[in-house]
Amino acid sequence: MAFMPWSDRFITGLAQIDEQHHWLVDQTNRLYDEITHESPDPAAIHQILEGLVEYTFNHFIVEEELFARHAYPENEAHKAEHDRFTKLAAEVLLKHEGGDNVSREILEFLKEWLKHHILEVDMAYVPFLKAHDEAS
Ligand SMILES: [Fe+2]
Ligand SMILES: [Fe+2]
Repeated sequence: MAFMPWSDRFITGLAQIDEQHHWLVDQTNRLYDEITHESPDPAAIHQILEGLVEYTFNHFIVEEELFARHAYPENEAHKAEHDRFTKLAAEVLLKHEGGDNVSREILEFLKEWLKHHILEVDMAYVPFLKAHDEAS
């Protein structure tokens, strides 16, 4: 059983978004596997973490560009959640670079944040974007 199993509940029906969310879930699982390995490899952890931070940042930009293009009314609040998370993720990366281990608690937080964000916050834009003909 994966740390964060992919679920049909995560599917928005917007192909590009779903592909990116799936990637984020996959990499969260990879990160979990790496930190719970009997001999964790800090370089591998760093590589996954760095990839996750960068990809997340780019994913947020993709969503925010869609919001801007269609004048999504919840843009501000949604972007504020993205910004808070980006800041936190960058802090985790910095701490890891400074020699701190990525803890299971951090991973749990990451998983719960991602779940909440996709299921509640991202899902909230789906009917709006679909009504504005945004199929991908
Ligand atoms: Fe998202
Ligand atoms: Fe989002």
